Amino acid sequence: MRNKTLYLWVSAGCFLAACTFSCQSGSKRAYDPNNPYLPSSPLAAVMREMVETLEKEKPSRAKGEFLPMDKDLFHEIKTATPTKASDASLTFYGMADGFLGVLDTYNQSPNQVHYNALIDACVSCHQNFCEGPITRIKKLKL
Ligand code: HEC
Repeated sequence: MRNKTLYLWVSAGCFLAACTFSCQSGSKRAYDPNNPYLPSSPLAAVMREMVETLEKEKPSRAKGEFLPMDKDLFHEIKTATPTKASDASLTFYGMADGFLGVLDTYNQSPNQVHYNALIDACVSCHQNFCEGPITRIKKLKL
């Protein structure tokens, strides 16, 4: 019984380590968009497009121009295939729905509070799935 519990903890630990590392190597790709030899999953490509769009738009939002966001792009996170099949879990889709709800709130009344709530929603999913890009995502806050 004891051994079995230990075994479960050890395998859960390895699983978490494997997730973290694969996602950290994934996050490095975001900083090296010029290397065409590295493969990229459809989900990673959507994530990159979201982060690059938000980075590009940050200066105008910093001046108080809170324009709505491209709903179609953000909704692609629910259909794009991830690098790791195990990421497409119930937890992932639950968090994706929560995130898209926060996006709707922002689009209905775009302002700084709702904008920062959206960035927090990116971060909370990343705390579960993909810690590598969190520092970059937090820089989007205003
Ligand atoms: C529902 C969970 C979830 C939400 C919400 C989410 N992400 Fe992600 N993100 C992931 C997962 C999982 C990956 C790994 C994708 C892969 O490797 O296929 C990822 C990968 C990334 C990457 C790395 C892409 C690469 O080059 O490998 C960046 C950057 C990123 N997300 C930014 C964001 C931003 C910005 C937001 C909010 C606008 C956001 N994410 C919202 C789960 C999420």
